[in-house]
Amino acid sequence: MTKQNIVVLMAAALSDTRGIGYKQDLPWYIPADTKWLNHVTTKKYVDTPLNRVDDQDWHNVVIMGRLSWESIPMRGIPMEDRFNIVVSRNPDYNIYAVDKFRNVSLSNSISQALSDGIEESQKTGGRIFVLGGEKVYEEAMVLPQSTHILLTLIYTKEPIECDTFMPQIDLRIFRLASHEELEAFIQEIVPEGIQSHENLDYEFLLYVRI
Ligand SMILES: NC(=O)c1ccc[n+]([C@@H]2O[C@H](COP(=O)([O-])OP(=O)(O)OC[C@H]3O[C@@H](n4cnc5c(N)ncnc54)[C@H](OP(=O)(O)O)[C@@H]3O)[C@@H](O)[C@H]2O)c1
Repeated sequence: MTKQNIVVLMAAALSDTRGIGYKQDLPWYIPADTKWLNHVTTKKYVDTPLNRVDDQDWHNVVIMGRLSWESIPMRGIPMEDRFNIVVSRNPDYNIYAVDKFRNVSLSNSISQALSDGIEESQKTGGRIFVLGGEKVYEEAMVLPQSTHILLTLIYTKEPIECDTFMPQIDLRIFRLASHEELEAFIQEIVPEGIQSHENLDYEFLLYVRI
């Protein structure tokens, strides 16, 4: 029997305004959160529908909006060891502007990106991570394919200016999981409770589709 594909929305958002971005960049730099994003989206999970990587140099799939793809952290270069899907309404959008990468493709809608991601992940048994931004989260969150949300919730004393925002999580659709559930989902120990970096506090949370 094939298991359901795991489709995870992953975001770091402010606790008060749910801000996620500013001027095409992240509004903060939390090294441990960057490491977390890279680790969680790259690692090989043991409960995937297939555990076959063959000669692929990727395992999990990451999906992002065109502006996130062009944004300062990415600059049109795919995340390595992951298959990258860029979402744009422009069917002629050039995903190869920087180089002819093997591990990137274009989808013209969010539901198409999810089906393409599921198809791609069937080859490797990987998970699918939806990495934003705003509209992509908004649409993906209500699609039945989305099974989990991994949220880094950031607390600040000083306001941080943002121009892009994570939509509210609908608690009729997703419930906040316990830390034990988060560790079981990530299949390893995860820092528990409030963590600190300079003047920012943050915590790693998991929401699960009800
Ligand atoms: N904190 C975090 O976790 C996080 C995560 C991701 C991004 N960010 C930040 O968020 C900002 C970028 O996010 P954003 O919200 O501005 O843009 P975005 O969602 O990354 O990209 C928006 C673009 O995606 C395409 N798109 C969106 N919905 C679509 C749909 N339904 N069908 C087809 N294409 C669709 C469109 O591309 P076309 O215009 O080409 O049609 C749209 O202009 C940056 O500041 C980035 O650093 C933060």
